[in-house]
Amino acid sequence: MLVDNEIRYNAIPLNNGSGAIPALGFGTLIPDPVATRIATKTALEVGFRALDASERYRNESDVGEAMDDVLKAGKIKREEIFVATKLWNNNHRPERVKPAFEASLKRLQLDYVDLYLIHTPFAFQPGDEQDPRDANGNVSYDKGVTLLDTWRALEDLVDEGRCKAIGLSDVSLTQTKDLFEAAKIKPAVVHVESHPYLPEWDLLNYCNQHGIVLQAFAPLGHSSEPRLLEDPVITAIAERVNKTPAQVLLAWAIQRGTALLTTSKTPARIQENFEVSTIPEEAMEEIKNKIMLEIRYNSVVETGVPGFIPRSSKR
Ligand SMILES: NC(=O)c1ccc[n+]([C@@H]2O[C@H](COP(=O)([O-])OP(=O)(O)OC[C@H]3O[C@@H](n4cnc5c(N)ncnc54)[C@H](OP(=O)(O)O)[C@@H]3O)[C@@H](O)[C@H]2O)c1
Repeated sequence: MLVDNEIRYNAIPLNNGSGAIPALGFGTLIPDPVATRIATKTALEVGFRALDASERYRNESDVGEAMDDVLKAGKIKREEIFVATKLWNNNHRPERVKPAFEASLKRLQLDYVDLYLIHTPFAFQPGDEQDPRDANGNVSYDKGVTLLDTWRALEDLVDEGRCKAIGLSDVSLTQTKDLFEAAKIKPAVVHVESHPYLPEWDLLNYCNQHGIVLQAFAPLGHSSEPRLLEDPVITAIAERVNKTPAQVLLAWAIQRGTALLTTSKTPARIQENFEVSTIPEEAMEEIKNKIMLEIRYNSVVETGVPGFIPRSSKR
């Protein structure tokens, strides 16, 4: 049973690696380097203990600097922070995995990460270009490597002790099942877009049955149109329970058993997003049963090319 005001400290046990992943996590997909440093530092200072980074975000060194500042201040220890980062699509060839991983560690100023994810199941042409294109401007995919080949290289990293747990991102239920069945070290986390407009119940059920943590990104709908934060079901609950719409959405994600990653460049919102407490069971049911809109905000699962989909404000 989750106790009010305690869900912000909820941690979900992992099937491999050490311990548990904090349910409430902070994502660092923030384009500006200064904003990344300020937001990461603020997130740690207000209480977030899980961070998500990626070589693709091109700001791991800013995340690393912010963590280093906080660790040097002495109030938080490295072991108290759950740090995840991700391998990008141009590094799927097994021989490229370890160098990419080491480069991420160096930028993050760490000697291990708690979780290393394959950022998407799409392999791009190997090389230094993160977004390789052919002469017609189409993405250059790499047909010479499978997701399982890349996974084996991540398993080697776990065996070497530099990365505690490994997982997948932007995968379907079928891709999760196939990889799970073939893996020697099972995925500990599956990180996908999820919120009331894209609840991913089937994937969540599969994850629950197999001891995998589903980590939801864009739990606030990325603040994109149509705005989940302004959904009438969410705003009515927020008013009733005296919380903000963001706090309702974050509580919903934690109470249904997922981990989540929320992001903000705004210190007051970072604080607000950490102040999550339990919403009543009938509000959980209302969100599940009354919200019928189905929206995927990020099209990365279709092509491997990252990007939130621009939409007009008209529904
Ligand atoms: N694997 C993948 O392909 C993938 C893709 C996307 C994201 N991710 C990860 O997931 C993380 C979170 O994704 P996300 O950015 O979509 O999360 P999100 O929390 O759903 O959306 C963030 C947006 O909501 C706004 N916001 C935050 N708190 C708010 C509040 N209390 N009230 C009103 N607006 C608020 C932010 O605005 P301000 O910043 O202006 O405050 C920002 O525009 C990313 O940082 C990244 O780590 C992974």
